[in-house]
Amino acid sequence: MERTLSIIKPDGVKKNIIGEVIKRFQNANINIAAMKMIKLSKEQAQGFYAVHKERPFFDSLTDFMTSGPIVVMVLEGDDVITQNRKLMGATNFKEADEGTIRKDFATDIEKNVVHGSDAPETAAFEISYFFNALEIV
Ligand code: CMP
Repeated sequence: MERTLSIIKPDGVKKNIIGEVIKRFQNANINIAAMKMIKLSKEQAQGFYAVHKERPFFDSLTDFMTSGPIVVMVLEGDDVITQNRKLMGATNFKEADEGTIRKDFATDIEKNVVHGSDAPETAAFEISYFFNALEIV
């Protein structure tokens, strides 16, 4: 059993597709072990995306991630990191496969609706960034 962090980004919340994204996880038999809606400060967004701090898009990305509420979730299941990345599609929606969340709803490489951890080590860091052990059921 593996865990991963999923975020429905501010553009996804504004598009009213929280339910649609959750439905896709549940249809794929992914268990939601924790979930909450929060609004990040600039500092919190910078901490979460610290791995990208040298990238040219870092300032814009962290502004975007603070532009409205987000929904953070811990997803659980066999091979869930890979499974979630398949459901999301490529970072760039133009390269995402048909039927993926980003292909269906993203409008921009930055405003790409969802985030998912890319490896077990990043999943552990990202889950602990938002949830303590008592919040994960
Ligand atoms: P995410 O999967 O959350 O990881 C880093 C985020 O940076 C990415 O989704 C996008 O929202 C954003 N981003 C903006 N520009 C780029 C880019 N050129 N390449 C990759 N990610 C980008």
